[in-house]
Formats: sequence, C-alpha cells, structure tokens
Amino acid sequence: MIKLQIPATSANLGAGFDALGLALQFYNDVEMEESDCIDITSADGTPIPTDEHNLIYISAKDLYEVCGKKLPGLKLVQTNRIPFTRGLGSSSACIVAGLVGANHLLGDPLGTDDLVDLAAQIEGHPDNTAPALLGGIVTAVFDGRRVHWVKQEVFTKLRFVAMIPDFELKTEKARACLPQQVTHRDAVYNLSRAALFSASLLTGKFENLRTAVHDKLHQPYRMALIPHAREVFDIAYAHGAYAVYISGAGPTIMAIADEENTYFAGKMRFSLDNAGLTGWAVHDLKIDNVGAADRR
Ligand code: HSE
Repeated sequence: MIKLQIPATSANLGAGFDALGLALQFYNDVEMEESDCIDITSADGTPIPTDEHNLIYISAKDLYEVCGKKLPGLKLVQTNRIPFTRGLGSSSACIVAGLVGANHLLGDPLGTDDLVDLAAQIEGHPDNTAPALLGGIVTAVFDGRRVHWVKQEVFTKLRFVAMIPDFELKTEKARACLPQQVTHRDAVYNLSRAALFSASLLTGKFENLRTAVHDKLHQPYRMALIPHAREVFDIAYAHGAYAVYISGAGPTIMAIADEENTYFAGKMRFSLDNAGLTGWAVHDLKIDNVGAADRR
C-alpha cells in the first residue's frame, strides 16, 4: 500500500495570477494500491466520488496511459482535510496524489519534470499543482505543454492565516468573471508586483508584501463574488497583517503575518465573530517545503 501526504496550496499570491503558488502545512492523506476493481473510500466521511469520476483515479489512469499501461482498478482510501472549492488547491492535491501514487506503483518511470507537466496539463494551470508536488514557493510558466518552473524553499517564520468561508466558489465561475483584455498599464502593474512578491518573501523584505499583493487581473473582479471580503481584508490589516490576498480563485482570504504576531489568528476569530461573520473558519498555517511526500 502506498501512503501519500499532499499539501494544500495557495495560488496567485496576489499579482502572480496563474504563475505563483506556495504549499502549506495542511494535508490530505491518500492510501493507494492496484486492484482489479475501483474501491474508493473516504476515511473521514467527506463525500467524494467513489467511481471512475474520482479525480485521483482519473489522474492515476492518465499516468498509466502515458506510460503505455492500463490501470486494472484502484483501491483508494482518502482522508480529506483540504476543503473543496475554497481556493486551497483541493483538486490539485487529488491530481498530484493520483500521479505520484500511480508513478510509485509503476516503479517511478516518470521524473519530477514529467509529473509537473502532466499535473498542469490535467488542471490547466500550474500554480496549485506545482507547489502541491514540489513544496515551497513555485514560480511557473506553462506553455500549454511544458511547465518551466523554479521551486524555492522558504525559511521565513511567517504565518499564513487562511480565513475560509462556509460557502464555495467554483474556479470556473471565478474565471468567467475576468476580463478578456487588460491594458498595457495594468499588465505592468501586475508583473512588477508578482516579481516583487517572491523576491521580498525570500529576502525578508516583508514591508513590500502589502504592495506586492495588489493586482488588476483578478482580485477586483472576484471580490464581488465573496460577500464581506472587504471587511475580512480590513480586519486582517487592522491586526497587523503584512499582506492580505484572495487565495487562488477564492473564496478563502489569506493573511500573511509575522510569527511574532502570536495572537493574530485568535484576534481574527474574535473580530470576525464580533462583526457577525460567523461562517469563517480561521486556520493558522506555515509553508510546507516538501510537497507530495511518501509516508511508506
Ligand atoms: N490561478 C488560478 C485562478 C488558481 O486564479 O483561477 C485556481 O486554480
């Protein structure tokens, strides 16, 4: 039985739309072995597809096909902690679990670059899949076939505090609201900030992060799809966050706070509650530098 741990991810990081993402110490567990039928169970009771529509199964089958093999069937036991459709990379975690698990089952015929490419081809963009696989902060360019990527480990003592609402926002809906075209000025606005984000995170210039997460490509449009988002941003900044941004396609809002801001998450819970925003769960997370890991 192969046992995997796959991290949640936070994509875009403000201005790095479809290009930047990082992994978080918040995991799904997957156990997998070949079988002569599809036998899928949820260890924690989360409702999941238990047939051929299961994304882990689909991804494992894809990898077998790429390797010229047919997957006879699969036994899967999933423990899902990453909530679905909340902007924390739950579908990427499934894709990466399927690919890494299937690759192990076949004796690891594909290398890391192949897995990064295949994951992005299935998902459509690499900013969640690549960090789920690799860990750390990943800068990625997807040319439609290949991903050109750099993974960097992050040793800063920052907290990534996820404010996760009790409603879902499907990525298709969050992408459908985006404009078809942007101005040259807005393109420059974003690319300069995306570059500033990773350089500032990695060198400890955290005072830049608030500027770096501003963007003109997606967050202004997505804010309207997330009720009370503005209030959550304002509360997080009032409690000393370095930066606040919409995680992935939303609706989770992520605040970056200093490790020494010890009570940040507790203060967020208290203030959200006082503001009547009771449906928001607050998770105090750190960056994962490992990515999809084998727990055999
Ligand atoms: N970059 C993607 C988006 C992440 O913002 O739509 C969601 O998968």
